[in-house]
Amino acid sequence: MKNICIMGTGYVGLVTGACLADLGNRVRCVDIDAEKIKILNDGKLPIYEPGLQELITNNVSRERLSFSEDISGSIRKSEVIFISVGTPSDGDGKVNLLYVEGAAEMIAQNLNDFKVIVNKSTVSVGTGKRLMEIIEKKSPSKAEFEVVSNPEFLREGSAINDFMHPDRIVIGTNSERAYGIITEIYGPLYLIETPFIKTSIETAELIKYASNAFLSVKISFINEIANICDKTGADVHVVARAMGLDGRISPKFLHAGPGFGGSCFPKDILGLVQLAKERGISPVLVEAAIKVNNAQRKVMVEKLKKLVPNLGGKTIAILGLAFKPNTDDVRESPALDIIKILLEEGCTVNAYDPVALDNAKKAIPEINCYDNMMDACEGADSVMIMTEWNELRQIDLIMLKEKLGAPNMVDCKNIYDPVKMKEEGFNYLSVGRPLLEAD
Ligand code: UGA
Repeated sequence: MKNICIMGTGYVGLVTGACLADLGNRVRCVDIDAEKIKILNDGKLPIYEPGLQELITNNVSRERLSFSEDISGSIRKSEVIFISVGTPSDGDGKVNLLYVEGAAEMIAQNLNDFKVIVNKSTVSVGTGKRLMEIIEKKSPSKAEFEVVSNPEFLREGSAINDFMHPDRIVIGTNSERAYGIITEIYGPLYLIETPFIKTSIETAELIKYASNAFLSVKISFINEIANICDKTGADVHVVARAMGLDGRISPKFLHAGPGFGGSCFPKDILGLVQLAKERGISPVLVEAAIKVNNAQRKVMVEKLKKLVPNLGGKTIAILGLAFKPNTDDVRESPALDIIKILLEEGCTVNAYDPVALDNAKKAIPEINCYDNMMDACEGADSVMIMTEWNELRQIDLIMLKEKLGAPNMVDCKNIYDPVKMKEEGFNYLSVGRPLLEAD
C-alpha cells in the first residue's frame, strides 16, 4: 500500500486514481478546479467513462480514494505523486507546459520528505529534466526526490480495462529507488510477469509520441487506401483484413473512416512535428498523416454531395457526435468538423448522440439536438453515421426510411452492409466499399 497523490482530475488522473485505489493504495486526487472537486465529492463525474463511476464510488466508500482541494496537504502526505494535468496545444502545436510546471512548483513547496514524482501528462522530450530543475530550485527543504516519466496508453471508452491490462508499462527514470517503487505499484496488475520497459526519461517521453503518431499514420494510411478503393472497385475491409493477418502489420487501427479525432492523436502528432522541427528535422511522414486526416473530413462531405448535390437549404441528420463510442468527448471530433462544413454550405443540422449532445451543443450552438435518433432523422435529406455507437449498429431501417425525407445514408463508419442497404432501398455510401457507386 502506498500513499499516492494524483494532481489533475481529468480523464487520465481520475482513471489512474480510481484504479490505483482499487489495487489497495490510499489515493488522494487533487485539482485546482474547485468545481470539479465539488462534483466528485457530490458523488458525480465530470466526464463519461464506462465503469468509472462504480469504481470511484466503491473505492471512496472503502476510504481508499478521496478528492480534495488541499493540494499542499495531499502532496505532503504522499510518497508518490502523479502529475496528470492538461497539456494544451499552443496555436503552432507546441505543448503548453504551464500546468505541468505549476504542479512541479507546488510539489517543490511541499517537499517534506523523499518523494517520487511521476509525470503522466503528455509532454515534449526534455520536460522531465525541466521538472527536476524546477523542483530542485524551488524546494525550500531540499529533501530528496526522483522524477519518473510514465506515459499513459489509455483509450477513452475503455480506459479502465486498458489500465488494468496494459500491453506495457513504460518507466523512464535513472533512479533504481524510484524504479523499485513504481514497479511495486504496478506489479499487482500481473500475477506472473508485468511487461515493464525500463528506460531513460527522454526515451519514455518519446515512446508516447511515437506510439500515438504511429497509430495516426496507420489510420491515415488505411484512409488513403480506402479512397483508392473508392476509385478502383476494391473493398477496404477485405484489404485491411488481409493486411492484418500478416503479423508484421497487425489488424488493429486499420478501420477506415472520417479520420481520427479526440484529445490525443491530433494534439500529440502536432506536438511531435513541432518537437522534430525545433531540432532541425522535417517529419515528412507524420505531416502527411495530418494532411490526409484533415482532407478525409472533406472526402466524407463529397460523398454526401453525391447523394444530395446541392446542400444549401437541405437538412442533414448526424448520428453520433462523440469522437468515438463510449465517451462524451467531442474534442477534434470528425462529426463536429463535418457539421461545421455543412453549416457553411447552408445546411440545417439535426443531431443525435447517446451522451455527447450537451458537449456538442456547447461547441456548435447551431446544431439542433435530439434525444431520439428517429426524431433527428425526421424529414432529413440524408443521414450521416459518424460514430460507431452500439445502438447505431442495429437501427430499425424500415422506420428510418419512413422518417427520412429521402432514403440517403453516408455511413462514415462502415457499420452497414452495402448489399443489404441496397435491398432495403437506401442510396448508401460508405468508406472504401464502392459496391453501389460502381452500379
Ligand atoms: C489514444 C491511444 O489509442 C491511447 O493509447 C492513448 O493513451 C491516448 O490516445 C492518449 O494519448 O491519451 P483515444 O484517443 O482515447 O486513445 O482513442 P483511440 O481509440 O485511439 O481512437 C482515436 C481516434 O482514431 C478516434 O477518432 C477513432 O475513431 C480513430 N480510429 C481508431 C480510426 O479512425 N480507425 C481505427 O482503426 C482506429
